[in-house]
Amino acid sequence: MSSFPTRRPRRLRANPALREFVAETRLHASDLILPVFIADGLAAPREIASMPGVYQHTLESLTQLAEEAIAVGIKCIDIFGVPRPEDKDATGSAAIDPEGILNRALAHLRERFGDQLLLMADTCLDEFTDHGHCGVLDGQGRVDNDATLPLYAQMAVAQARAGAHIVSPSGMMDGQVGVIRDALDDAGFADVAIMAYSAKYASAFFGPFREAVGSSLEGDRRTYQQDPRNLRESVMEAELDVSEGADFIMVKPALPYLDVLKTLAESSPVPVAAYQVSGEYAMIKAAGANGWVDGDAVMLESLASIKRAGADQIFTYYAIEAARALRES
Ligand code: PBG
Repeated sequence: MSSFPTRRPRRLRANPALREFVAETRLHASDLILPVFIADGLAAPREIASMPGVYQHTLESLTQLAEEAIAVGIKCIDIFGVPRPEDKDATGSAAIDPEGILNRALAHLRERFGDQLLLMADTCLDEFTDHGHCGVLDGQGRVDNDATLPLYAQMAVAQARAGAHIVSPSGMMDGQVGVIRDALDDAGFADVAIMAYSAKYASAFFGPFREAVGSSLEGDRRTYQQDPRNLRESVMEAELDVSEGADFIMVKPALPYLDVLKTLAESSPVPVAAYQVSGEYAMIKAAGANGWVDGDAVMLESLASIKRAGADQIFTYYAIEAARALRES
């Protein structure tokens, strides 16, 4: 680059109006997706200890939360189901049952809010299996990719029937997007979109989520989620998902994987989302609660960084607070 002798970069930082005027990245409430938990058999909402401010919800409290989200300009919530322990089984059948907790919540919210709020459903078996894995197991206890695919297809159709606008396969089975697209089309749900968890890493940052959904998992998910040391395979995962019919691709977690996000965002033909996961949220909240950092400022800075790296949509448990802060700024 040539030199610019009269250039003074500080000139454009002199006051808030100038800084706002030249900002390259702008967060907006409609960029944000709020992940929520609906639990079966709860008498009242229950706060998740490792995620202060995040609750397992009843249908009633979830409906109120959805109203709050709409009021601050959020367009989409992502719903995870937490069944009663006695409703879990080896194949996660409560995920497909129209009376399962997630499908009941979808039906209730779609009836209540119509197209005012986009309903995304988590399309994965882990909350519903008694072993806690994202798929069914073979005779040796290994996750069986191809035996899992038809269950994902049935789950997606059940979610579409219940009222989901978007299904989101998060189990990292090979071929999951293609079978879901075909099943949705065959069942008359050509308009239901697929948010593909394309580059999902076997991450320790998911820790608090396991408490949030009452996970039964022992062991880990390293045979299906990506190795944190790898970038290149995320490109192949994303290309496969797009070729199978993904309407969005996603990177997860977000902040430790901004290089992955940037790489995919540079060439993706579809919108690219990033998921600020439970551990990212918990760390910032914990440091904030201790007075070690300004938690709200760190959260907004993280979200701006995720957007700057190329995210079109950001999943964050902080969505409502962020949307409020953005309105005030
Ligand atoms: C699995 C799933 C997980 C998360 C979203 N979907 C957990 C996992 O893979 O173990 C993590 C979300 C978070 O940590 O916020 N269906």
